[in-house]
Amino acid sequence: MFEARPSFLQPASAGDYRELARRRLPRQFFDYLDGGAYDEATMRNNVEDFRRVLLRQRVLRDISHINLKTEVLGQKLAMPVILGPVGLAGMFAPRGEVQAAQAAERAGVPFCESTVSICSLEEVRANTSAPFWYQLYVMRDRGYARELLQRAHAAGCPVLVFTVDLAVVGARYRDVRNGMTGISSPFGKLAKAWDFISHPGWSLSMAMRGKPLVFGNLVKAMPEAQSLPAFRAWVNAQFDPAVTWNDLAWLRENWPGKIVVKGILDPDDARTAASLGFDGVVVSNHGGRQLDGVPSSISALPPIVDAVGDRVEVLVDGGVRSGLDVVKALALGARACIIGRAWAYALAGAGGAGVAHVLQIMRKEMEVAMALTACTDLNEINQDILTSALPATGMKDAASAGIHGVAGSRVDYAEISK
Ligand code: FNR
Repeated sequence: MFEARPSFLQPASAGDYRELARRRLPRQFFDYLDGGAYDEATMRNNVEDFRRVLLRQRVLRDISHINLKTEVLGQKLAMPVILGPVGLAGMFAPRGEVQAAQAAERAGVPFCESTVSICSLEEVRANTSAPFWYQLYVMRDRGYARELLQRAHAAGCPVLVFTVDLAVVGARYRDVRNGMTGISSPFGKLAKAWDFISHPGWSLSMAMRGKPLVFGNLVKAMPEAQSLPAFRAWVNAQFDPAVTWNDLAWLRENWPGKIVVKGILDPDDARTAASLGFDGVVVSNHGGRQLDGVPSSISALPPIVDAVGDRVEVLVDGGVRSGLDVVKALALGARACIIGRAWAYALAGAGGAGVAHVLQIMRKEMEVAMALTACTDLNEINQDILTSALPATGMKDAASAGIHGVAGSRVDYAEISK
């Protein structure tokens, strides 16, 4: 029942927080957080392709002052990182969304609340003072969607993240195996109970401080659906596969603030979003949780920056686990990175203090990456700080694209990823 202590005295990276999360969370919730769709190839490539982008080290420049401040969608940020929408975060730690939003506020970066959060918009608002963002899925019940938009506006959210890659739900095998999608056999119920009993730290803290499984923003929409299988059924019934670009005019009419479209992987879709007047796009494959076999986010980024980078702000998420990854994404044209699992692992492993720590770690890692690529300000980061890369998964083979791993040569990432 009691698990061995982790093999480190204190966590040093987002990966260490993943290990803490694995130990603390019941298997069902860890797999929900950690897993992806189908064989999880895209999820793995999201992380691995970052490793294939190589930084060009430069030395003996004055790097005594490094400035990470930036502006994203009209908001000043202490560094180019945003805590992205993660559904059910309030199941990873008691009042999880509030704890994460407070940590984000302390770090000077935005927190984005998911449609399917545990804490309501009003609870996050009441416990923070910085503006936070809101994420919306397309629902059949437009009346309820409008009500959510009004609540988000009343809570002072300046940015709406409109997620478009969940019109249908990808098959997440781990969730099926663990009974997240429903379980009926007595043996399954016993196994689930044991999963909770054998993680007493999480179970006790949730029993004492959480209000498990109330979807704060959806209570009125699905009063009968405050359990995971019922929630799944509600998602399947409510998320609207018939939505097209034409419906987005409705969104513009109902949201006075900025809107970014999240879930873009193709330059043509990015062009459409830009031409419809949206303020930004998030290059994203939903952290590899939707369609397996699509390109990693970092390999999809350069052609999208080429297509719309001069018209809208291009953000990216998927596989960002360190400040080094953030610097690489900025070098390939992103305005900022959204992180998902990196903050959620930390929340699960050590609550709000963990989220604050992971943000400090990422900040430090960005400073080091900038210092050793001789950048003192974010606007000095561009492709010049990259050197030749190994061919990345999801990218065209670099050799066949005429690119060879010669140290010091520049790589046309937009070219390889076409
Ligand atoms: C997500 N993501 C997500 N996205 C969204 O728009 N609304 C949501 O409710 C959720 N929920 C969610 C739950 C969990 C457990 C995960 C891991 C992710 C996707 C998220 O915003 C982001 O796109 C990915 O997490 C980015 O990939 P990394 O950083 O997790 O690799």
